[in-house]
Amino acid sequence: MTKALTVRTTTGPASPGTHERIRKHRWAIAALPLAAAAALMQVPVAQAVEWQALPETAPAPADNPTTPEKVELGKMLYFDPRLSSTGTVSCFSCHNVMEGGDDHRPTSIGVHDQVGGRNAPTVWNAAFLSVQFWDGRAASLEDQAKGPIANPIEMGMPNLEAAVKRLKQIPGYAPKFKAAFGSKAQISEDTVAKAIAAYERTLITPNSPYDRFVKGDKKALTAQQQKGMRAFADVGCVACHSGPNFSGPSLPVGTGFFMKFPVFADNEMVAKYRVLDDGGKAAVTGKPEDQNMWRVPTLRNLAYTAPYMHNGAVKTLPEAVNMMAVTQLNKTLSEQQIADIVAFLEGLGGEFPEQTMPHLPPTPGDMLE
Ligand code: HEC
Ligand code: HEC
Repeated sequence: MTKALTVRTTTGPASPGTHERIRKHRWAIAALPLAAAAALMQVPVAQAVEWQALPETAPAPADNPTTPEKVELGKMLYFDPRLSSTGTVSCFSCHNVMEGGDDHRPTSIGVHDQVGGRNAPTVWNAAFLSVQFWDGRAASLEDQAKGPIANPIEMGMPNLEAAVKRLKQIPGYAPKFKAAFGSKAQISEDTVAKAIAAYERTLITPNSPYDRFVKGDKKALTAQQQKGMRAFADVGCVACHSGPNFSGPSLPVGTGFFMKFPVFADNEMVAKYRVLDDGGKAAVTGKPEDQNMWRVPTLRNLAYTAPYMHNGAVKTLPEAVNMMAVTQLNKTLSEQQIADIVAFLEGLGGEFPEQTMPHLPPTPGDMLE
Protein backbone atom coordinates (compact mmCIF):
# COMPACT_ATOMS: atom_id res chain seq x y z
CA MET A 1 0.00 0.00 0.00
CA THR A 2 1.36 3.38 -0.84
CA LYS A 3 0.66 6.93 0.19
CA ALA A 4 1.53 9.83 -2.09
CA LEU A 5 3.06 12.85 -0.46
CA THR A 6 3.02 16.28 -2.01
CA VAL A 7 5.38 19.15 -1.59
CA ARG A 8 4.10 22.68 -1.85
CA THR A 9 6.51 25.22 -3.24
CA THR A 10 6.16 28.96 -2.84
CA THR A 11 8.26 32.04 -3.18
CA GLY A 12 8.32 33.82 0.17
CA PRO A 13 7.36 37.47 0.48
CA ALA A 14 10.32 39.77 -0.21
CA SER A 15 10.01 41.40 3.19
CA PRO A 16 7.31 41.93 5.78
CA GLY A 17 4.82 44.23 4.09
CA THR A 18 5.85 43.52 0.52
CA HIS A 19 3.32 41.58 -1.42
CA GLU A 20 5.03 39.43 -3.95
CA ARG A 21 2.83 37.18 -5.94
CA ILE A 22 2.92 33.83 -4.23
CA ARG A 23 3.06 31.02 -6.68
CA LYS A 24 2.02 27.66 -5.45
CA HIS A 25 2.25 24.44 -7.27
CA ARG A 26 2.41 20.87 -6.32
CA TRP A 27 5.26 18.49 -6.70
CA ALA A 28 4.54 14.92 -5.87
CA ILE A 29 7.68 13.75 -4.15
CA ALA A 30 7.12 10.06 -3.79
CA ALA A 31 4.82 7.19 -3.44
CA LEU A 32 6.11 5.78 -0.20
CA PRO A 33 5.48 2.41 1.39
CA LEU A 34 3.10 2.74 4.31
CA ALA A 35 5.79 1.97 6.87
CA ALA A 36 7.93 4.82 5.63
CA ALA A 37 4.94 7.13 5.49
CA ALA A 38 4.06 6.21 9.07
CA ALA A 39 7.61 6.93 10.19
CA LEU A 40 7.38 10.33 8.56
CA MET A 41 4.32 11.20 10.62
CA GLN A 42 6.67 11.72 13.54
CA VAL A 43 8.26 14.58 11.64
CA PRO A 44 5.74 17.40 11.74
CA VAL A 45 6.58 18.98 8.40
CA ALA A 46 7.14 15.91 6.28
CA GLN A 47 3.64 15.72 4.91
CA ALA A 48 3.65 19.00 3.02
CA VAL A 49 6.94 20.83 2.83
CA GLU A 50 6.69 24.44 1.85
CA TRP A 51 9.78 25.07 -0.25
CA GLN A 52 10.48 28.79 -0.43
CA ALA A 53 12.79 30.75 -2.67
CA LEU A 54 15.11 33.36 -1.21
CA PRO A 55 13.63 36.86 -1.65
CA GLU A 56 15.60 39.14 -3.97
CA THR A 57 15.86 41.90 -1.39
CA ALA A 58 16.54 41.66 2.33
CA PRO A 59 14.10 43.18 4.82
CA ALA A 60 15.37 46.33 6.59
CA PRO A 61 14.11 47.81 9.88
CA ALA A 62 11.96 50.97 9.70
CA ASP A 63 14.67 53.06 11.38
CA ASN A 64 17.41 51.93 8.99
CA PRO A 65 16.17 51.79 5.40
CA THR A 66 18.79 50.57 2.94
CA THR A 67 20.06 53.45 0.77
CA PRO A 68 22.96 53.49 -1.72
CA GLU A 69 24.85 56.11 0.38
CA LYS A 70 24.56 54.02 3.54
CA VAL A 71 25.59 50.87 1.72
CA GLU A 72 28.65 52.64 0.31
CA LEU A 73 29.68 53.88 3.75
CA GLY A 74 28.93 50.54 5.38
CA LYS A 75 31.11 48.77 2.86
CA MET A 76 33.99 51.16 3.59
CA LEU A 77 33.68 50.47 7.32
CA TYR A 78 33.41 46.73 6.68
CA PHE A 79 36.71 46.74 4.80
CA ASP A 80 38.49 49.25 7.08
CA PRO A 81 41.12 47.66 9.37
CA ARG A 82 41.44 50.97 11.24
CA LEU A 83 38.37 49.88 13.22
CA SER A 84 40.69 47.46 15.05
CA SER A 85 43.16 48.37 17.78
CA THR A 86 46.17 47.30 15.72
CA GLY A 87 44.85 48.66 12.43
CA THR A 88 45.17 45.20 10.92
CA VAL A 89 41.83 43.43 11.31
CA SER A 90 38.58 44.33 9.54
CA CYS A 91 35.24 42.58 9.27
CA PHE A 92 36.53 41.40 5.90
CA SER A 93 39.46 39.60 7.62
CA CYS A 94 37.10 36.99 9.04
CA HIS A 95 34.19 37.35 6.61
CA ASN A 96 35.70 37.27 3.12
CA VAL A 97 33.01 38.48 0.72
CA MET A 98 35.17 37.64 -2.28
CA GLU A 99 34.23 34.07 -1.40
CA GLY A 100 32.14 32.32 1.26
CA GLY A 101 31.76 35.22 3.70
CA ASP A 102 33.80 33.42 6.35
CA ASP A 103 37.49 32.63 7.01
CA HIS A 104 37.69 28.84 6.57
CA ARG A 105 39.39 28.40 9.89
CA PRO A 106 37.85 26.14 12.55
CA THR A 107 37.87 29.22 14.79
CA SER A 108 38.90 32.77 13.89
CA ILE A 109 42.14 34.67 14.45
CA GLY A 110 41.84 38.29 15.57
CA VAL A 111 44.26 41.00 16.72
CA HIS A 112 47.66 39.87 18.05
CA ASP A 113 47.05 36.42 16.52
CA GLN A 114 44.56 35.54 19.21
CA VAL A 115 42.39 32.54 18.44
CA GLY A 116 38.68 32.73 19.28
CA GLY A 117 36.38 29.94 20.46
CA ARG A 118 33.91 29.74 17.60
CA ASN A 119 33.74 29.32 13.85
CA ALA A 120 33.04 32.47 11.81
CA PRO A 121 29.60 32.04 10.23
CA THR A 122 29.04 33.38 6.74
CA VAL A 123 27.77 36.93 6.33
CA TRP A 124 26.01 35.92 3.11
CA ASN A 125 22.26 35.96 3.84
CA ALA A 126 22.78 36.82 7.53
CA ALA A 127 20.24 39.55 6.69
CA PHE A 128 17.55 36.86 6.69
CA LEU A 129 18.35 35.53 10.18
CA SER A 130 16.06 36.61 13.00
CA VAL A 131 18.96 36.57 15.50
CA GLN A 132 22.72 36.76 14.96
CA PHE A 133 25.61 34.61 16.30
CA TRP A 134 25.58 30.83 16.79
CA ASP A 135 23.92 31.38 20.16
CA GLY A 136 21.60 34.14 18.91
CA ARG A 137 22.89 36.70 21.39
CA ALA A 138 22.45 39.70 19.05
CA ALA A 139 18.95 40.53 17.88
CA SER A 140 19.82 42.36 14.66
CA LEU A 141 22.66 43.08 12.26
CA GLU A 142 22.88 46.53 13.84
CA ASP A 143 23.39 45.00 17.31
CA GLN A 144 25.79 42.41 15.93
CA ALA A 145 28.05 44.96 14.23
CA LYS A 146 28.88 46.54 17.59
CA GLY A 147 30.20 43.22 18.95
CA PRO A 148 33.46 42.45 17.12
CA ILE A 149 34.95 45.97 17.24
CA ALA A 150 35.22 45.97 21.03
CA ASN A 151 35.79 42.21 21.35
CA PRO A 152 39.32 41.84 22.82
CA ILE A 153 40.09 38.77 20.69
CA GLU A 154 38.58 40.00 17.42
CA MET A 155 39.20 43.70 16.64
CA GLY A 156 40.43 44.62 20.12
CA MET A 157 39.26 48.22 20.52
CA PRO A 158 38.88 49.13 24.22
CA ASN A 159 35.28 50.15 23.51
CA LEU A 160 33.07 51.48 20.74
CA GLU A 161 33.76 55.11 21.65
CA ALA A 162 37.42 54.49 20.82
CA ALA A 163 36.39 53.27 17.36
CA VAL A 164 34.19 56.33 16.86
CA LYS A 165 37.08 58.58 17.97
CA ARG A 166 39.34 56.82 15.46
CA LEU A 167 36.88 57.46 12.63
CA LYS A 168 36.58 61.12 13.61
CA GLN A 169 40.37 61.43 13.23
CA ILE A 170 40.03 60.42 9.58
CA PRO A 171 38.79 63.60 7.88
CA GLY A 172 37.44 61.77 4.82
CA TYR A 173 34.74 59.96 6.80
CA ALA A 174 32.59 62.90 8.03
CA PRO A 175 31.18 63.76 4.57
CA LYS A 176 30.35 60.09 3.98
CA PHE A 177 28.35 59.94 7.24
CA LYS A 178 26.51 63.15 6.28
CA ALA A 179 25.70 61.76 2.83
CA ALA A 180 24.35 58.58 4.41
CA PHE A 181 22.50 59.95 7.45
CA GLY A 182 21.79 63.66 6.73
CA SER A 183 23.68 66.91 7.11
CA LYS A 184 23.37 66.97 10.92
CA ALA A 185 24.49 63.36 11.33
CA GLN A 186 27.40 62.47 13.59
CA ILE A 187 29.85 59.64 13.49
CA SER A 188 28.50 57.55 16.36
CA GLU A 189 28.16 53.93 17.49
CA ASP A 190 24.66 54.03 16.10
CA THR A 191 25.50 55.36 12.65
CA VAL A 192 28.53 53.06 12.32
CA ALA A 193 26.39 50.00 13.13
CA LYS A 194 23.54 51.12 10.88
CA ALA A 195 25.83 51.67 7.89
CA ILE A 196 27.53 48.27 8.29
CA ALA A 197 24.13 46.56 8.63
CA ALA A 198 22.86 48.32 5.49
CA TYR A 199 25.85 46.98 3.53
CA GLU A 200 25.27 43.48 4.93
CA ARG A 201 21.67 43.61 3.66
CA THR A 202 23.11 43.67 0.14
CA LEU A 203 25.07 40.45 0.83
CA ILE A 204 22.39 38.05 -0.29
CA THR A 205 22.51 35.23 -2.82
CA PRO A 206 19.16 34.60 -4.51
CA ASN A 207 18.67 32.65 -7.75
CA SER A 208 20.47 29.48 -6.73
CA PRO A 209 19.57 26.40 -8.78
CA TYR A 210 17.22 25.51 -5.89
CA ASP A 211 15.49 28.92 -6.05
CA ARG A 212 15.04 28.64 -9.79
CA PHE A 213 13.68 25.12 -9.31
CA VAL A 214 11.01 26.12 -6.79
CA LYS A 215 10.05 29.06 -9.00
CA GLY A 216 9.23 26.60 -11.76
CA ASP A 217 12.42 25.81 -13.71
CA LYS A 218 12.26 22.04 -13.41
CA LYS A 219 15.69 21.62 -15.01
CA ALA A 220 17.48 23.86 -12.51
CA LEU A 221 18.26 20.95 -10.19
CA THR A 222 19.78 17.72 -11.49
CA ALA A 223 18.00 14.40 -10.97
CA GLN A 224 20.37 13.60 -8.10
CA GLN A 225 19.76 16.99 -6.50
CA GLN A 226 16.01 16.40 -6.68
CA LYS A 227 16.53 13.02 -5.07
CA GLY A 228 18.55 14.73 -2.37
CA MET A 229 15.82 17.32 -1.88
CA ARG A 230 13.33 14.51 -1.32
CA ALA A 231 15.70 12.77 1.10
CA PHE A 232 16.28 16.06 2.95
CA ALA A 233 12.53 16.23 3.55
CA ASP A 234 11.98 12.50 4.15
CA VAL A 235 14.69 11.99 6.76
CA GLY A 236 13.55 15.11 8.62
CA CYS A 237 16.27 17.74 8.06
CA VAL A 238 13.51 20.13 7.06
CA ALA A 239 12.01 19.95 10.56
CA CYS A 240 14.71 22.43 11.61
CA HIS A 241 16.22 23.69 8.34
CA SER A 242 13.01 25.08 6.86
CA GLY A 243 12.10 28.42 5.31
CA PRO A 244 13.73 30.35 2.47
CA ASN A 245 17.14 30.47 4.18
CA PHE A 246 16.98 26.90 5.56
CA SER A 247 17.46 28.46 9.00
CA GLY A 248 13.87 27.96 10.15
CA PRO A 249 10.70 29.93 9.51
CA SER A 250 10.91 33.67 8.78
CA LEU A 251 10.40 35.20 12.22
CA PRO A 252 10.40 38.81 13.47
CA VAL A 253 13.89 40.20 14.19
CA GLY A 254 15.04 39.23 17.68
CA THR A 255 12.92 36.07 17.90
CA GLY A 256 15.43 33.37 16.98
CA PHE A 257 14.83 29.78 15.92
CA PHE A 258 16.78 27.59 18.35
CA MET A 259 17.17 23.84 18.53
CA LYS A 260 19.12 21.47 20.71
CA PHE A 261 22.41 20.20 19.34
CA PRO A 262 22.85 17.30 19.94
CA VAL A 263 19.26 16.06 20.27
CA PHE A 264 20.68 12.52 20.55
CA ALA A 265 23.88 12.49 22.61
CA ASP A 266 24.46 8.75 22.91
CA ASN A 267 26.69 8.29 19.85
CA GLU A 268 30.38 8.53 18.95
CA MET A 269 29.91 11.80 17.02
CA VAL A 270 29.34 13.86 20.14
CA ALA A 271 32.76 13.17 21.65
CA LYS A 272 34.56 13.07 18.30
CA TYR A 273 33.41 16.59 17.44
CA ARG A 274 33.42 17.96 21.01
CA VAL A 275 29.78 18.96 20.69
CA LEU A 276 29.13 19.34 24.42
CA ASP A 277 32.16 21.53 25.18
CA ASP A 278 30.26 24.75 24.49
CA GLY A 279 26.93 25.35 26.21
CA GLY A 280 25.52 27.47 23.37
CA LYS A 281 22.63 29.71 24.38
CA ALA A 282 23.00 28.77 28.08
CA ALA A 283 26.41 30.46 28.12
CA VAL A 284 24.54 33.72 27.42
CA THR A 285 21.33 33.31 29.43
CA GLY A 286 22.58 31.08 32.27
CA LYS A 287 19.32 29.13 32.05
CA PRO A 288 19.56 25.31 32.31
CA GLU A 289 16.89 24.88 29.61
CA ASP A 290 19.17 26.71 27.16
CA GLN A 291 22.00 24.20 27.61
CA ASN A 292 23.24 23.13 24.13
CA MET A 293 20.56 25.17 22.40
CA TRP A 294 21.83 26.72 19.16
CA ARG A 295 20.36 28.99 16.55
CA VAL A 296 19.56 26.92 13.45
CA PRO A 297 22.05 28.12 10.80
CA THR A 298 21.47 28.69 7.09
CA LEU A 299 22.41 25.89 4.71
CA ARG A 300 22.97 28.19 1.72
CA ASN A 301 26.42 28.32 0.10
CA LEU A 302 27.81 25.52 2.27
CA ALA A 303 30.22 24.50 -0.48
CA TYR A 304 32.04 27.77 0.32
CA THR A 305 32.02 27.64 4.13
CA ALA A 306 33.90 24.55 5.36
CA PRO A 307 34.69 23.66 8.09
CA TYR A 308 31.28 23.33 9.75
CA MET A 309 29.43 23.71 13.08
CA HIS A 310 29.91 26.30 15.85
CA ASN A 311 33.40 24.98 16.60
CA GLY A 312 34.42 24.27 13.02
CA ALA A 313 35.15 20.67 14.04
CA VAL A 314 33.58 19.01 11.01
CA LYS A 315 35.75 19.34 7.92
CA THR A 316 33.59 18.14 5.05
CA LEU A 317 30.00 18.49 3.95
CA PRO A 318 29.29 14.73 3.70
CA GLU A 319 30.51 14.33 7.27
CA ALA A 320 28.36 17.28 8.42
CA VAL A 321 25.29 15.68 6.82
CA ASN A 322 26.17 12.29 8.30
CA MET A 323 26.63 13.81 11.74
CA MET A 324 23.39 15.80 11.65
CA ALA A 325 21.42 12.66 10.80
CA VAL A 326 22.96 10.87 13.80
CA THR A 327 22.91 13.68 16.39
CA GLN A 328 19.66 15.39 15.37
CA LEU A 329 17.53 12.55 14.02
CA ASN A 330 19.10 9.37 15.43
CA LYS A 331 19.32 8.01 11.88
CA THR A 332 22.15 6.41 9.95
CA LEU A 333 22.10 7.49 6.32
CA SER A 334 23.42 5.33 3.48
CA GLU A 335 26.39 6.58 1.44
CA GLN A 336 23.93 7.19 -1.39
CA GLN A 337 21.56 9.26 0.75
CA ILE A 338 24.47 11.36 2.00
CA ALA A 339 25.73 11.94 -1.55
CA ASP A 340 22.24 12.90 -2.72
CA ILE A 341 21.67 15.34 0.16
CA VAL A 342 25.11 16.89 -0.40
CA ALA A 343 24.25 17.32 -4.10
CA PHE A 344 21.01 19.04 -3.09
CA LEU A 345 22.82 21.32 -0.62
CA GLU A 346 25.24 22.28 -3.39
CA GLY A 347 22.18 23.41 -5.35
CA LEU A 348 21.63 26.05 -2.64
CA GLY A 349 24.73 27.94 -3.79
CA GLY A 350 23.40 31.25 -5.10
CA GLU A 351 24.47 34.11 -7.32
CA PHE A 352 26.94 36.25 -5.41
CA PRO A 353 26.59 39.97 -6.13
CA GLU A 354 29.95 41.15 -7.46
CA GLN A 355 32.12 42.82 -4.82
CA THR A 356 34.58 45.59 -5.51
CA MET A 357 37.10 46.94 -2.99
CA PRO A 358 36.03 50.34 -1.63
CA HIS A 359 38.41 53.31 -1.70
CA LEU A 360 39.18 54.40 1.87
CA PRO A 361 40.08 57.93 3.04
CA PRO A 362 43.74 58.58 4.06
CA THR A 363 45.12 57.95 7.56
CA PRO A 364 46.82 60.67 9.65
CA GLY A 365 50.44 59.59 10.36
CA ASP A 366 50.06 59.63 14.14
CA MET A 367 46.82 57.68 14.35
CA LEU A 368 48.11 54.11 14.71
CA GLU A 369 50.99 54.05 17.14
C1 HEC B 1 38.42 37.89 14.29
C2 HEC B 1 37.42 37.43 13.38
C3 HEC B 1 36.17 38.27 13.22
C4 HEC B 1 36.07 39.59 12.93
C5 HEC B 1 37.17 40.60 12.78
C6 HEC B 1 34.66 39.86 12.75
N1 HEC B 1 33.94 38.72 12.92
FE1 HEC B 1 31.97 38.49 12.62
N2 HEC B 1 32.05 36.71 13.51
C7 HEC B 1 33.19 36.04 13.87
C8 HEC B 1 32.85 34.88 14.65
C9 HEC B 1 33.82 33.87 15.23
C10 HEC B 1 31.44 34.88 14.77
C11 HEC B 1 30.59 33.88 15.55
C12 HEC B 1 30.70 34.21 17.02
C13 HEC B 1 29.65 33.54 17.86
O1 HEC B 1 28.65 33.10 17.33
O2 HEC B 1 29.83 33.49 19.08
C14 HEC B 1 30.97 36.04 14.00
C15 HEC B 1 29.62 36.34 13.78
C16 HEC B 1 29.20 37.33 12.90
C17 HEC B 1 27.86 37.49 12.39
C18 HEC B 1 26.66 36.61 12.73
C19 HEC B 1 26.33 35.70 11.58
C20 HEC B 1 25.43 34.59 12.02
O3 HEC B 1 25.19 33.66 11.23
O4 HEC B 1 24.97 34.59 13.17
C21 HEC B 1 27.86 38.59 11.58
C22 HEC B 1 26.68 39.15 10.82
C23 HEC B 1 29.20 39.12 11.60
N3 HEC B 1 29.99 38.32 12.39
C24 HEC B 1 29.60 40.28 10.98
C25 HEC B 1 30.79 40.93 11.30
C26 HEC B 1 31.07 42.34 11.07
C27 HEC B 1 30.10 43.32 10.46
C28 HEC B 1 32.33 42.57 11.51
C29 HEC B 1 33.08 43.90 11.56
C30 HEC B 1 32.47 44.96 12.36
C31 HEC B 1 32.85 41.30 12.00
N4 HEC B 1 31.88 40.35 11.90
C32 HEC B 1 34.14 41.10 12.45
C33 HEC B 1 34.47 36.42 13.53
C34 HEC B 1 34.81 37.73 13.23
C1 HEC C 1 16.58 19.20 15.48
C2 HEC C 1 17.01 20.26 14.58
C3 HEC C 1 17.91 19.89 13.41
C4 HEC C 1 17.75 18.87 12.50
C5 HEC C 1 16.65 17.82 12.43
C6 HEC C 1 18.84 19.00 11.57
N1 HEC C 1 19.64 20.04 11.90
FE1 HEC C 1 21.29 20.68 10.90
N2 HEC C 1 21.68 22.00 12.39
C7 HEC C 1 20.88 22.25 13.48
C8 HEC C 1 21.56 23.13 14.38
C9 HEC C 1 21.02 23.67 15.70
C10 HEC C 1 22.82 23.40 13.81
C11 HEC C 1 23.95 24.24 14.40
C12 HEC C 1 24.97 23.31 15.03
C13 HEC C 1 26.05 24.04 15.80
O1 HEC C 1 25.72 24.88 16.63
O2 HEC C 1 27.22 23.73 15.61
C14 HEC C 1 22.85 22.68 12.54
C15 HEC C 1 23.93 22.70 11.64
C16 HEC C 1 23.94 22.08 10.41
C17 HEC C 1 25.00 22.17 9.44
C18 HEC C 1 26.27 22.98 9.60
C19 HEC C 1 26.08 24.39 9.09
C20 HEC C 1 27.33 25.22 9.19
O3 HEC C 1 27.33 26.31 8.62
O4 HEC C 1 28.29 24.86 9.86
C21 HEC C 1 24.65 21.41 8.36
C22 HEC C 1 25.44 21.20 7.10
C23 HEC C 1 23.35 20.83 8.67
N3 HEC C 1 22.95 21.27 9.90
C24 HEC C 1 22.66 19.98 7.82
C25 HEC C 1 21.58 19.21 8.25
C26 HEC C 1 21.05 18.08 7.52
C27 HEC C 1 21.51 17.64 6.14
C28 HEC C 1 20.07 17.53 8.28
C29 HEC C 1 19.30 16.26 8.03
C30 HEC C 1 20.11 15.05 7.91
C31 HEC C 1 19.97 18.35 9.48
N4 HEC C 1 20.91 19.34 9.43
C32 HEC C 1 19.05 18.13 10.51
C33 HEC C 1 19.61 21.72 13.69
C34 HEC C 1 19.11 20.62 13.03
